[in-house]
Amino acid sequence: MNAGAPSPDSKPLTLGDLRAMREAGEPIACLTAYDSTFAAAQEAAGVDLILIGDTLGMVVQGHDSTVPVRVDDIIYHTQCVNRAVRRPWVVADMPFLSVRSPAFAVEQAGRMMQEAGARMVKLEGGDSQVAVTRALADQGIPVCAHLGLQPQLVHKLGGFKVQGREASAAQAIVDRARELEQAGADMLLLECVPNAVTQGVVEATSVPVIGIGAGPHAHGQILVMHDMLGVTTGRRPRFVKDYMAETGGVQAAFAAYVQEVKSGAYPQPTHGFG
Ligand code: KIV
Repeated sequence: MNAGAPSPDSKPLTLGDLRAMREAGEPIACLTAYDSTFAAAQEAAGVDLILIGDTLGMVVQGHDSTVPVRVDDIIYHTQCVNRAVRRPWVVADMPFLSVRSPAFAVEQAGRMMQEAGARMVKLEGGDSQVAVTRALADQGIPVCAHLGLQPQLVHKLGGFKVQGREASAAQAIVDRARELEQAGADMLLLECVPNAVTQGVVEATSVPVIGIGAGPHAHGQILVMHDMLGVTTGRRPRFVKDYMAETGGVQAAFAAYVQEVKSGAYPQPTHGFG
């Protein structure tokens, strides 16, 4: 038994649709997925954007960080997801060191699009993030730039810590967001930043901003699927809500999440940081 073919009636979402959702104030409901069965269930629940995140290193492969994930892993899991969905915007994550130079990043992102059907790539990165984003955008590759907590830097940061708490660090995130948009980023993802930083980024940029542990001001929300289903082993971040515990089933959990994101019930300010 397979996950089932995607519905031929659903029209694939485009970047323009996601921008229009930002303009219309319709929250964008996003989740991670790594295989066909869960991806199909997410599409059925109305999830707008599916990220094949490098969190697969932790929740699928059992590593203690995302650092060991390879481009081939992302390609394999993106292929699995893509076979099952039609409407959601599919984003593939660029793993650790795959963005080590603009030319290398273009090559790897090209593989994610050509071999796996990704419609956008997401990238973390330090000071080179702007140059890499520009190189990808120049080739017509849609880019989501990841700011705030960048889990690929966990060994440098000394843990998964909230970013942008001091005024100068908060300003640096807002400035970087502006630079990334100017370099061609089509979307921004903010992870674990104070709610006010999210508000600052939303005001400084004109692309959709997706939050995770970033409070209620973003245009869309994303959670790691295993976290919101309550099956992650170890500590669950405090901004995560366990939708499985509330609904008792996977399909109902995805539907409740989409409904709460769309209605603005999730996240509350308490699901972010002050
Ligand atoms: O890799 C991932 O799943 C992510 C999420 C934390 C958004 O980047």
